Amino acid sequence: MSTIDLQALIPNNVNLADNRQLQRALEHWQPAFLNWWGEMGPSDFNAKEVYLRTAVGVDASGWASYGYTPMPDYRWGIFMADKEEGRKIGFGENMGQDVWQEVPGEFRSAFRRLIVTQGDTEPASVEQQRLLGHTAPSLYDLRNLFQINVEEGRHLWAMVYLLHAHFGRDGREEAEELLERHSGDVNKPRILGTFNEPMDNWLSFFMFTYFTDRDGKFQLKSFAESAFDPLARTCRFMLTEEAHHMFVGETGIGRVIRRTLEVMKELDTDDVAALRRAGVVDLPTIQKFMNFWFTSSLDLFGSEASSNAANYFANSIKGRPDEAKFADHLERDTRMTITVSDGKGGLMDESITVRNGMNEITRLEYVKDCNVGLTRWNMGIKRAGVDFEFKLPSTRFRRAVGVWAGLHTDPEGNPLSADAFEAQKDQWLPTPADISFVKSLMQRVTEPGKMAGWIAPPDRGINAHPIDYQYVQL
Ligand SMILES: [Fe+2]
Ligand SMILES: [Fe+2]
Repeated sequence: MSTIDLQALIPNNVNLADNRQLQRALEHWQPAFLNWWGEMGPSDFNAKEVYLRTAVGVDASGWASYGYTPMPDYRWGIFMADKEEGRKIGFGENMGQDVWQEVPGEFRSAFRRLIVTQGDTEPASVEQQRLLGHTAPSLYDLRNLFQINVEEGRHLWAMVYLLHAHFGRDGREEAEELLERHSGDVNKPRILGTFNEPMDNWLSFFMFTYFTDRDGKFQLKSFAESAFDPLARTCRFMLTEEAHHMFVGETGIGRVIRRTLEVMKELDTDDVAALRRAGVVDLPTIQKFMNFWFTSSLDLFGSEASSNAANYFANSIKGRPDEAKFADHLERDTRMTITVSDGKGGLMDESITVRNGMNEITRLEYVKDCNVGLTRWNMGIKRAGVDFEFKLPSTRFRRAVGVWAGLHTDPEGNPLSADAFEAQKDQWLPTPADISFVKSLMQRVTEPGKMAGWIAPPDRGINAHPIDYQYVQL
C-alpha cells in the first residue's frame, strides 16, 4: 500500500517529498488556489466551522475522516488509488502491454487536452454554486453543498498534480489557467457549456449534482481504463468521492418530490397554481428542470461520431466505462448505427464505426444510469396514488453538440420546425416565470433539523449523526 503523508503542506500518497522540484512547484500553486477559493469559492462562509469529511487515504474500509473545519483550512490532498502490480492495457491497439507510468510523447497533447478539460469542470462547479449557501433549505443541505465544493477543489488538485508531474512547463501553465477561466465569464469562460450555466436555486443544484456530476462519473470511469496509469489511478479514487455528489442529487430531487406529494395529498389537488401558492414545486416544473439539466449534460459527451474519440480509443488513451464488460476491446472493423436527421424533417439511420461512436456508447450508458433515479421517484409517485410519471427526454432533444445540434425535436425526439419548437418550448423547459417562482421559494433555514417548506427532510443524517445535528456552526 502507498504511504500517506498527512503532515506535509500538501497531504499526499504520491511520495511528493521525494521530488523536491515538483513539490516546490505545487507549493507555489497552492497560494494561488487558496486565493481563487477566497474569491470564487463559497461566499461569506469561509470563517464557519463545517462538519466535513476529508480524504486521508485510499483504503476502501476507511479513506475519510470527519470533523469540523473552516473550509479554507480543508486539507486538500493528492491521492491515487493503489498501484495494481502488473496492470496491463485493457483496450485499443496497445492492449495487453504494460500500462504507462509516463505519457508517451506522441500522445502528450491528447492527454493534456483531456486532463485540462476534466480539470476545468471541477473549479467551474464551485464557481457556479458560489452563492447557494445563502439560500440553503437546511443546515444538512448547506453542509452537503460545502462538502461537494471542497471535494471539487480536491479534484482540481488531482488534475493539477498530473499536469505538474507529467507535462512540464506546459502543465504548469495549464494549471495557472485553470484558476483564470471562470464560470460564465464573457471573456474567459469555462471550457464546457454546462459549466457556464447560472445556478441560482437549489432545484438546479440538485439537478446538476444528479445529472452533471453523473457525467463526471462516466468521464472518470472512462479515464480509469486509460493506459496512462497515474491518470487511471487518480480517477479511480475520485470516483469514491463523486458517489456522494450524486447521492446529494438523487436524494435532493427525491425529497423535493416527496414534499410536493405530501402537499398534493393534503390539499387533494394537482393544480399547479394551488401547489405553488402552498409553496411547493409542482411536478411538471420539476420535469422541466430535469429536461434542461439532462440535455445540457448530454452535450458533455461530445459528438455522436467523433474521430477524436476514435483516436483516444485506438491509442488506449480513453476507454469505455467498465471496458471489461464489453466483448471486443479492439473494435477494429465493427460498426454501429446512430440516428440522424434525414434533412426533410424525418429520421434516418447512419452506420458509423464503433471507434467513431465511443462518445455515443458512453452517453447511452449514462442515460441508463440516469434512469435508475427516475424509476425510484416514479415508484414513490405511484405509491402516493398520483397519476404522473417523470420521463427523460430523447437524446435528440435540445442538443447543442453533435448531429442534433441546431435541429429541433419534441421531448420524444420527433423532429420539429423551429417555429413549432418555439411555440411549445415553454411546456418542456423552465420559463423565466418558472425560474423566478422556484427562486422565490429559496429562503434560508438555519435551525438544526428544520427544513424549508418545499423540501422533505432526508432519511438520515451524515456519518450516523441525527438530522438535527449542527452540521454548520453559523
Ligand atoms: Fe469532481
Ligand atoms: Fe462531483
